[in-house]
Amino acid sequence: MPTKSAYLWGAGLTVAAVAAMAWSAVRPGEGVGAAAVLWAEDAWRASADWYQSGPGDRRPDWETSALYVVNADPDRGAALMTQYGCGACHVIPGVTAARGSVGPSLDGFADRAYVAGVLPNQPGDLVRWLMNPTTHAPQTAMPDLGVREGEARDMAAYLYTLGGG
Ligand code: HEC
Repeated sequence: MPTKSAYLWGAGLTVAAVAAMAWSAVRPGEGVGAAAVLWAEDAWRASADWYQSGPGDRRPDWETSALYVVNADPDRGAALMTQYGCGACHVIPGVTAARGSVGPSLDGFADRAYVAGVLPNQPGDLVRWLMNPTTHAPQTAMPDLGVREGEARDMAAYLYTLGGG
């Protein structure tokens, strides 16, 4: 059973992670930013581990995931992925009719180290990938679909609910 101080510690980490995420999303790719992102990821994982040790049922926790990508709504992200037709090319668990095999399955995406092998798998970079894949991988078969930033954030939040378990 987590003690009261463990709860406080977990809550503190979550707040710190969210603050750092907000900052890192605004200042991507800089040296200092990268360090902050690593730190924020550690903090997030620590608080996620702590959280998961609470409910214990290992279901995706949408609230925590929404916090991971700041100001994002994973539910809306899933709906957007249906609208944009991502499922024509990807298997995406939980997204209607997403059974395509042109691109990799996005099952377990939260556990992947890289986005398409070219960007570290972290919120800012995932959002950038979703908005402009061909900027990051000029030969990629994934088209630029005109995804706006807010939309990409929502999709990223959903994709981070897809852990390998
Ligand atoms: C025309 C097919 C196509 C469509 C449509 C498409 N993708 Fe992709 N996607 C790909 C391919 C191919 C890759 C592999 C890219 C590479 O490695 O260069 C990819 C890679 C990705 C990756 C990285 C996967 C990994 O394992 O690293 C993510 C995340 C992703 N797509 C999300 C989306 C989302 C969200 C949408 C809808 C907004 C979408 N894709 C639409 C073809 C597509």
